[in-house]
Amino acid sequence: MPGLQPPVLGIVGGGRAAWAIASAWRSLGWPLSGVALREGSQSPIGKHLDIPLLDSEALARSSTAIALAVSDRAIEEVAKSIVRSAPEHAHTFHLSGSLPASILGRPRSFSLHPFRALPPVGEPVRLAGALLVYEGCEESFPLAHGFAHRLGARIARISAAQKPLYHAAAVLAANDVAALLDLSETILREVGLREVEQDVAALADTAIVNWLTSEGAAKFTGPVVRRDVEVLRRHREALAPDPHRAALYSLLAVEIVNAMARRGASEFDTRSLMQRVREALDLP
Ligand SMILES: NC(=O)c1ccc[n+]([C@@H]2O[C@H](COP(=O)([O-])OP(=O)(O)OC[C@H]3O[C@@H](n4cnc5c(N)ncnc54)[C@H](OP(=O)(O)O)[C@@H]3O)[C@@H](O)[C@H]2O)c1
Repeated sequence: MPGLQPPVLGIVGGGRAAWAIASAWRSLGWPLSGVALREGSQSPIGKHLDIPLLDSEALARSSTAIALAVSDRAIEEVAKSIVRSAPEHAHTFHLSGSLPASILGRPRSFSLHPFRALPPVGEPVRLAGALLVYEGCEESFPLAHGFAHRLGARIARISAAQKPLYHAAAVLAANDVAALLDLSETILREVGLREVEQDVAALADTAIVNWLTSEGAAKFTGPVVRRDVEVLRRHREALAPDPHRAALYSLLAVEIVNAMARRGASEFDTRSLMQRVREALDLP
């Protein structure tokens, strides 16, 4: 790694991932060739990075590494237009958490997925301490490893076959948490509480800190771990007018019992708790 020669990076795409990777690359003093955007793109990324906007052919010719930071559905198609012009030895990578590197259809290909929700273009990027998940060829790994190491990020490897499941886990901890916060805030509005976004986020923060700092079943708080099944029954009744919300709440209550079992609560205890939770929530 000490002898790693940083490649000249060309970026395709002008969204969050393009901005994050380009900013991180630049923060190391590594060279950027330019950025390629699709026709009609309004992305301000070129201005923010102060690098030239190039067409994909010019970008491929002037880069020794190419990041395809476009939406998942566009990666394969964009890769085809790059493949024609890119030098044989160039590294190509994408940032999707669920797609394999092989869709790039070239040697020296990989995917590098930041296990982080990335900021909008122009906002500060902090990848120090982040987990970057690598999948792809052996030849490009030293480059990705060197990049992560210099950023102070961590790198882990998974196989292409593991990616969809891996990415589902990432979605659970990111977008799904945001969806739960949003539902909580919506219900609070329905009971007459306004301007409570900060409060919802603060409550979630305490739950996250507790999960991170506690051991075993103490990672969880609330009526399930307190065995307050009467509270669960009242929640079920309150949520019943909206079967979707009621089902979501019930699935999560059951998942808390599963998590307590995974975290070492006794089998006897969790089996009887599961039964009581299911009864309270009217689950089969
Ligand atoms: N956002 C995150 O937190 C995050 C985290 C980890 C990984 N990723 C991954 O990063 C990749 C990009 O996501 P993102 O969050 O950066 O998305 P984004 O902010 O929506 O940006 C997507 C970019 O792709 C461009 N694009 C879409 N279709 C295209 C096409 N057919 N040809 C050329 N360019 C096209 C868009 O062009 P316009 O400028 O015209 O809209 C836009 O600049 C995805 O693989 C995603 O899974 C994202």
